[in-house]
Amino acid sequence: MWNDLLLFQTVVDVEGGVRLVMESALSARDRVGVQDFLLLENYTSEAAFIENLRRRYRENLIYTYIGSVLVSVNPYKELEIYSKQHMERYRGVNFYEISPHIFALADNSYRAVRTERKDQCILISGESGAGKTEASKKILQYYTTMCPTRNNTHSIRERLLQSTPVLEAFGNAKTLRNDNSSRFGKYMDVQFDYKGAPIGGHILNYLLEKSRVVHQNHGERNFHIFYQLLESGHSELLRRLGLDKTNPQQYHYLVKGNCPRVSSISDKNSWKIVSKAFSVIGFNEEEVEELLKVVASVLHLGNTQFGEDEFGETHITTDTQIKFLSELLGVDGSFLSEALTHKKIVAKGEEMIGPLSLEQALSARDALAKAIYGRTFTWLVQKINQSLAFQVKCSSVIGLLDIYGFEVFQNNSFEQFCINYCNEKLQQLFIELTLKSEQEEYEAEGIGWESVEYFNNKVICDLVEEKFKGIIAILDEECLRPGEASDITFLEKLEDRLGGHPHFVTHKLANGKTRKALGRDEFRLLHYAGEVNYNVNGFLDKNNDLLYRNLKEVMCQSENQIVKECFHTDELTDQRRPETAATQFKLSLAKLMDILMSKEPSYIRCIKPNDGKQPGRFEEVLVRHQVKYLGLMENLRVRRAGFAYRRSFEAFLQRYKPLCPDTWPNWQGNLSDGVSTLVRHLNYKPEEYKLGRSKIFIRFPKTLFLTEDALEIRKPSIGEKAQKQLGFSVNNHTFVCLCLSVVIVIQSWWRGVKGRRRATRRRQAADTIRNLIKGFILRNEPRCPDNEYFLDHVRFSFLMTIKRNLPKNVLDRTWPRPPPSLSEASVHLHRLCIRNLVNDYCRKIQPEWKNQLEQKVVASGIFRGQKDNYPQSVPRLFVGTRLENEEINLKVRQTLGSDNRYGVAVTKYDRRGFRARPRQLLLMATGVILVQESKIKQRIDYSSLLGISVSSLSDGLFVMHVPTADSKQKGDLVLQCDHVIEAVTKLAIMADKIHNVNISQDSIKFAIARGKEGVIDFTYGAELRVIKTKNGRLAVTAPRINSNSI
Ligand SMILES: Nc1ncnc2c1ncn2[C@@H]1O[C@H](COP(=O)(O)OP(=O)(O)OP(=O)(O)O)[C@@H](O)[C@H]1O
Ligand SMILES: [Mg+2]
Repeated sequence: MWNDLLLFQTVVDVEGGVRLVMESALSARDRVGVQDFLLLENYTSEAAFIENLRRRYRENLIYTYIGSVLVSVNPYKELEIYSKQHMERYRGVNFYEISPHIFALADNSYRAVRTERKDQCILISGESGAGKTEASKKILQYYTTMCPTRNNTHSIRERLLQSTPVLEAFGNAKTLRNDNSSRFGKYMDVQFDYKGAPIGGHILNYLLEKSRVVHQNHGERNFHIFYQLLESGHSELLRRLGLDKTNPQQYHYLVKGNCPRVSSISDKNSWKIVSKAFSVIGFNEEEVEELLKVVASVLHLGNTQFGEDEFGETHITTDTQIKFLSELLGVDGSFLSEALTHKKIVAKGEEMIGPLSLEQALSARDALAKAIYGRTFTWLVQKINQSLAFQVKCSSVIGLLDIYGFEVFQNNSFEQFCINYCNEKLQQLFIELTLKSEQEEYEAEGIGWESVEYFNNKVICDLVEEKFKGIIAILDEECLRPGEASDITFLEKLEDRLGGHPHFVTHKLANGKTRKALGRDEFRLLHYAGEVNYNVNGFLDKNNDLLYRNLKEVMCQSENQIVKECFHTDELTDQRRPETAATQFKLSLAKLMDILMSKEPSYIRCIKPNDGKQPGRFEEVLVRHQVKYLGLMENLRVRRAGFAYRRSFEAFLQRYKPLCPDTWPNWQGNLSDGVSTLVRHLNYKPEEYKLGRSKIFIRFPKTLFLTEDALEIRKPSIGEKAQKQLGFSVNNHTFVCLCLSVVIVIQSWWRGVKGRRRATRRRQAADTIRNLIKGFILRNEPRCPDNEYFLDHVRFSFLMTIKRNLPKNVLDRTWPRPPPSLSEASVHLHRLCIRNLVNDYCRKIQPEWKNQLEQKVVASGIFRGQKDNYPQSVPRLFVGTRLENEEINLKVRQTLGSDNRYGVAVTKYDRRGFRARPRQLLLMATGVILVQESKIKQRIDYSSLLGISVSSLSDGLFVMHVPTADSKQKGDLVLQCDHVIEAVTKLAIMADKIHNVNISQDSIKFAIARGKEGVIDFTYGAELRVIKTKNGRLAVTAPRINSNSI
């Protein structure tokens, strides 16, 4: 157990902070023992068991586990281990992670309720004064403090808490063993809603010790409420109740034990608490007053005295008591007096009234007092149950059973018989459920079940409860039979019927030593926990629990609301005999067993360390006695039959991973392999352990301790490394412990954070996938909540695709294909994009380039799709001029000045003979000049230029048309140029004849002289040729360059 090694003992220091005292494994184990008895090496030794308890007790470690059973030793002093801080520490923590505590057990049950929705019950047992009620209060405190709240559950929490002082006032008393001894068994359900908030409760009560109302042993008291009322009740209230505060000693029912005051009890404070609790629970003033009237009436009954007249008839000598009783109970005084001194018998349908002897009257009075108090107590429990009844749906339940433990006194009576029978039943349940859950765990883990030897106490239960044959049946038979039945005849019948039973013996049946230890009026039962001698005296009376019929009749007429509810007239008309006390108890126990069987149990076994209620005193004999009667050794033996220790792979690996280089600092593979690797490295022998599906089972504590010791030795080296890295210098061991615990806390916190993040991501991913699938199915529907996520996603991804694949330039025509829902938007976007690119392009354009482009645009307008060699010209830049200055004759240059804009070499064809002559064509500002070396051969003003003709083929011929009437002109000019597109474009721009360029398919006509026309024919041919035909035409053949040209 890691807490034996790294024991966290919290002490609130002077500043109120919590100091963590950590003890190392090696030293702590010797000093404080093991925190789980399963780890005791010698687990069959009672001495070792008790020694372990003692060691821990000495260190104020009052809690120790036997597996999941919590053993608690009463410290008899306030320990600082129940604060809110402590509760926080145990919330959500596994049993073994932190030192044993009742909060760990409470939290464990609560978590099972929350996570597995399995109803739980916590069974608290132990002898009187061992701390059962305190334990149940701590658990209730834990739930009411730590569980979540609903808006309206604050009051329920308060009521749950406040039910305890009320029940304690009426059901607890000071006894020799315990100043606040519960004189009834209590089972309380705490109900939780689906969020884990406590929303209600329900209480079942068992076998109130009614005899205490009329009699108390020396040194004991009656139930607390009597003393509280007399001590602190308002004088006006006491007057109304006919009680006298000044002299409590006058009440006979309170003085039998000769113990009116107890130093540890403040009746004043308790009264305040109870009064407040009444209002929290929901009693109104009238109800409280009615209840206190019943309490007072019991005291008046106790003071009701009887006398005998000279004829031997019994009469009441205290009329004032009858007066008070008739007022308080709302009954007729004379009826009551009559009923207290006479008995009514119904025989064969006839009623007969007979006087009671003095002794009988006293016993009838006591029986009435017991009946009134006992029934009022049950009424009180029901009233509390009404107040705790939940309004909303209850999801699950945790039951708390605070019930009497095994009792063995010098003189054991009917009550001890019932109590010990109850413990037999609980033991049976314990064995059954523990073995069952043990077996289930083995099966779940895939580990073979090894049958466990244990004593099945069913034989004793049968001995007590079996129909017709058991002790209770025989007792009932004796109570009901006509004739002179007595306690002794009952004993004889037992001997007769049960003689020879291995668990039953009497003085008569026994021999030798045993006979000496048994009285003649005793029988002995060999309980699972040990032998107990029961004295039969009083068995029949207690079992009959008789209340004479006429007393019942008076009570049925009561005007006190509570008494009225407690005594039903049905009782009078019902011909059947009421169930005897033992049978009632048997039946209620059977019901309790059903309740407990339907839940998952946890156990708290309480031990009282000494009889003097003193802190720090550990009386070995007394403890041994309880260890035996609580069946703790048997419990340990059953639990240890298989393996001493079991832990989940994860927890085991987490703790011991530093011991193996393959698992330190982290094991990456699967957990089972990690544990295998680790235990192989530690040299575990096959018989020492087994690997289940999710847990490792270690058979002997020694194996675990060796591993722990190895870890202890390894710690300093881990610590030194860490100290070096962090630059700390503190006590090595403390530092290591601190480091490890801090690391564990950080690790688990960080794991939690990561886990939560992972879970969130997974959830989001699942939602996204679900939305996408749904959206995809409905993608063609109009936009709706079911497809909007998908549509948005599609749009988003399309826009992102466009963003990544935008056209690089204006000529780039690529564009991603849009989804149907975005086709229109896509067109707009594409257009916008191109426009943007164009704008951008235009903004960056240079003047020369602009000029170039303008010319190209004009060329495109004229030639695109019209002339075969146009496409070839597109990528070629138009140059400023094709003739450098030097290439033009100086004289020509001098004549023309600097007006020359563009020059190009051309071939001129004579209009008549079509002789080809090299010329230079110069485009001037106002006209075009044809130059032959130093001579200007012809000049055409742009204004007189009529138009320009070119062919549609790939040839370079072009004709400049001039007016034939112009005497200065010799006719149209037929030229051929290698840069025809460029030259004609420039000419058209300069002459402003863009719209006057004519492109002919087959032939161009041109003017030779006034009235005369020449023709140039164009045809496709293999190569470019210009020849004069016989018919006087110029024939031009040009190769086809572009297949789709016109
Ligand atoms: N955990 C505890 N811390 C401090 N004191 C305790 C603790 N448990 C018990 N005690 C002391 O022991 C006394 C007896 O405890 P408690 O009343 O719970 O015993 P019990 O087992 O219910 O006995 P009974 O069977 O008589 O009702 C308490 O009044 C209290 O003084
Ligand atoms: Mg108690």
